Amino acid sequence: MITLDLSNLAKVKNHGIPLKNLKATPAQIGTHLKKIENRKQGFYKIIDENAAVKKIGEFADERAGKYTDIVVLGIGGSALGTICLQQSLKHLFENELNGLSPFPRLHVLDNIDPSLISDFEDLLDSDKTLFIVVTKSGTTPETLAQYSYYFHKIYQKKLYPRDHFAFVTEPGNNLLRRIARKENISCFTIPENVGGRFSVLTAVGLLPAKLIGIDIEKILLGAREMRDSFLNPDFSKNLPYQLALTQYLLAKKGKNINILWPYSQKLIRFADWYRQLLAESTGKEGKGLTPVSALGVTDQHSQSQLYNEGPNDKLITFIKVKNLGPCMPIPSMLNGPDTSFPDGLTFNQLMQTEMQGTIASLTKNNRPNITIEIPEVDEFVLGQLFMLFEGATAFLGEMFNINAYNQPGVELSKTITRKLLQNK
Ligand code: PA5
Repeated sequence: MITLDLSNLAKVKNHGIPLKNLKATPAQIGTHLKKIENRKQGFYKIIDENAAVKKIGEFADERAGKYTDIVVLGIGGSALGTICLQQSLKHLFENELNGLSPFPRLHVLDNIDPSLISDFEDLLDSDKTLFIVVTKSGTTPETLAQYSYYFHKIYQKKLYPRDHFAFVTEPGNNLLRRIARKENISCFTIPENVGGRFSVLTAVGLLPAKLIGIDIEKILLGAREMRDSFLNPDFSKNLPYQLALTQYLLAKKGKNINILWPYSQKLIRFADWYRQLLAESTGKEGKGLTPVSALGVTDQHSQSQLYNEGPNDKLITFIKVKNLGPCMPIPSMLNGPDTSFPDGLTFNQLMQTEMQGTIASLTKNNRPNITIEIPEVDEFVLGQLFMLFEGATAFLGEMFNINAYNQPGVELSKTITRKLLQNK
């Protein structure tokens, strides 16, 4: 079970929130839910779409054993969820296992830096690669440029594009859809009412995940369970609302920086995924929360001085993982008892204790912090986490009275870039 511990907010003097203020009536939550419903967003509904999951499963079965590498071409919401799924649910060195894994390696090329494209050449064996082109709009120049580049490679080798490409895009008749029809390339749908940064639980994340052997049904089960919490008008049962209200009330006290600090190597990309979700959803009309991702314990030695004694303008959200995986004992040092760890100490205990120490020091320094505790990092829990943070972001949009689902700033830069390119 996922729990959200807000108790430290009451312990930090002047900078926290009295627990009595952390409440909402069913009517208040109901009003926010109604507003969300009126925006006709699909992020909490698509997780019921069994037909989409079936299509992904059939594709994966049909292509099983054909590829050594899967390459996702996409950016922003079309890439970050997939990167997170891989980091959270696969072996941390999966791509380095060289033939030991029964599944293809996954690479997400979410940049157009020529050094990235050029260095990737040394790894690429296009005969055995499936490129998944992910772009909701079908017009993002970075992704289309990459598509064009790799399409040429396939074409020059006289390979069939349908064997080496799959597309994930919105319905309609955009460029990708037209190419898919012409070349008979499999095309998966991102529903129109699901924004890029809310799309990880569509084919955007689920297709690559399935191809590398992740149990996507289990992710959706977890997401559905958290959706029940998101739709629950009882404050004590609605974790997304509790999280959003905390973020909102602290923002009103000037704490506009939100640090998501998982103590788990597997969850650092989750924090990066959330960085986009929070930034693009709330950053508009002069309002917004600035997301920062941090990793425990690593960033204790990089960020925690600032978080402890710098400006008190942050909310720090820890993610504590109860079961950090295999129990890894730290052997006593061979060069004498003075430097040895207590007998029987494990890396697991060391990590948990350091987290405890970090939380205690921040609380002592009156830094608002909360802790989300999860049992472990698996498919079910990750599904829950996606929905927890998406739901909280949806509530935040209503609390700030902004449309959390558009991104006019991003669109403007895309339009200007397109114009500049036309002049070249
Ligand atoms: O959240 C969003 O909508 C954006 O960040 C998009 O994901 C990003 O700009 C990529 O767009 P597209 O999927 O249309 O290529």
